[in-house]
Amino acid sequence: MEVVPVVVPDPGPGEAVVRVQACGVCHTDLHYREGGINDEFPFLLGHEAAGVVESVGTGVEDLSPGDFVILNWRAVCGRCRACKRGRPWYCFATHNAKQKMTLEDGTELSPALGIGAFAEKTLVAAGQCTKVDPAASPAAAGLLGCGVMAGLGAAINTGQVGRGDSVAVIGCGGVGNAAVVGSRLAGAGTIIAVDVDDRKLATAQRLGATHTVNSRAVDAVETIRSLTGGNGADVVIEAVGRPETYRQAFYARDLAGTVVLVGVPTPEMKLELPLLDVFGRGGALKSSWYGDCLPERDFPMLVDLYLQGRLDLDAFVSETVPPDGVEEAFARMQRGEVLRSVVVF
Ligand SMILES: NC(=O)c1ccc[n+]([C@@H]2O[C@H](COP(=O)([O-])OP(=O)(O)OC[C@H]3O[C@@H](n4cnc5c(N)ncnc54)[C@H](O)[C@@H]3O)[C@@H](O)[C@H]2O)c1
Ligand SMILES: [Zn+2]
Ligand SMILES: [Zn+2]
Repeated sequence: MEVVPVVVPDPGPGEAVVRVQACGVCHTDLHYREGGINDEFPFLLGHEAAGVVESVGTGVEDLSPGDFVILNWRAVCGRCRACKRGRPWYCFATHNAKQKMTLEDGTELSPALGIGAFAEKTLVAAGQCTKVDPAASPAAAGLLGCGVMAGLGAAINTGQVGRGDSVAVIGCGGVGNAAVVGSRLAGAGTIIAVDVDDRKLATAQRLGATHTVNSRAVDAVETIRSLTGGNGADVVIEAVGRPETYRQAFYARDLAGTVVLVGVPTPEMKLELPLLDVFGRGGALKSSWYGDCLPERDFPMLVDLYLQGRLDLDAFVSETVPPDGVEEAFARMQRGEVLRSVVVF
C-alpha cells in the first residue's frame, strides 16, 4: 500500500463527493490487497466510513452538502425483482458511482466495495450515503458501514434472534462481537461466544456474552450443547467463514434452529454434510449479506441507540490511526490485537 494523490471527479448525475472523516480497517480490505477478491489493481481501499457530503450531482434530491453520512456498499435500486417483491435488503442490482477516480496519470482506480474511503474525499453513488445524527462520533458511526452492521444484522435481521433465545456466535472478531451485541439488543437469554483467542473472548464477555468457549481447549459443539440443556442453541452465527466452523455451527444448533453464515469463505473451500442430517435437523440455513440491512432503515436507528447509550459502538474502535497507518493496522488485525483500527482524517 502507498499513499498517493488521487483525482476525484466532480459528482455526475446521481453521484456525491464525500469528505471522509473516519474509515475502519476491515478484513475485506486485506482480502483485496492480497488479490483474494479480484485482480483489478490498483485498488483504492477502505469501505467502513463516515463523513460529510461535500457536493452532489444533478438529480440528487435527498442529500445536500454538509449532511453527515455513513457510506454503504449496497445502495438499493428499487427496480430489481428483489426490490419489487418488497425485499430491498436483498437488492440484486446495487449500484456505485459511474465515474472513476484515477491516479494523476489517468490510471483508473477500483474502489473497494464501490467506496474507496482511505482517502480525504471519495466519489460514490448518492444512494450509498445514509444521513444520520451528526452528534455521533465519525469513527464509531462509520463502523456501521460494514463489519459491525454485518454482525448486528446477522443476529437481528437474518437470525431473527428474539427474547429469551439462546445464541452461539463462532468467531468473535469485529463481526462476531457485533453479533453478540445484536443478540443482546434483541433480548437473547443465553449468548455463547466461541473463539480460539482468549483476548477476543474477554471482549465478548464485556459486550454481553453470558458464556465463553475457547474451541482450542474444548469441543465447541459439545460445550454449546451442554450450556443449552443438551439441546443446542436456537441460533448459531458463524462469523469466521470456514468449513470446520460452519460444521460446528450446523451441529451446535437445536433441532429446527437457525444457522447464519456471515463469515465469507474463499473459492476453494468445500462443505460436506450428510444430507440426512440436513433434513433431519430441520430449521434454516441462511447466509447474511451485510447483515440483511437496509441502510436507510437501520443506520439512523442504530446511531440513535448509540447516542442513547444502548449500543456501545465505541467498544469496537480499538485504536485510531493516520492514513499511512493501514499496513500496520493490517498486521495488528492479523495478530488478533484489535477489533477495529480506524483511520481518521
Ligand atoms: N457477510 C458480510 O456481509 C460480511 C461483512 C464484513 C465481514 N464479513 C466477514 O466476516 C468474517 C469475520 O470478519 P472480522 O472482521 O470479524 O474478522 P476478524 O479477523 O476480526 O475475526 C475473525 C475471528 O475469528 C476467530 N477465529 C479464527 N479461526 C477460528 C476458529 N477455527 N474457530 C473459532 N474462531 C476462529 C479469530 O480468532 C478472530 O477473532 C470474515 O470472513 C469477513 O470477511 C462478512
Ligand atoms: Zn434492487
Ligand atoms: Zn468490510
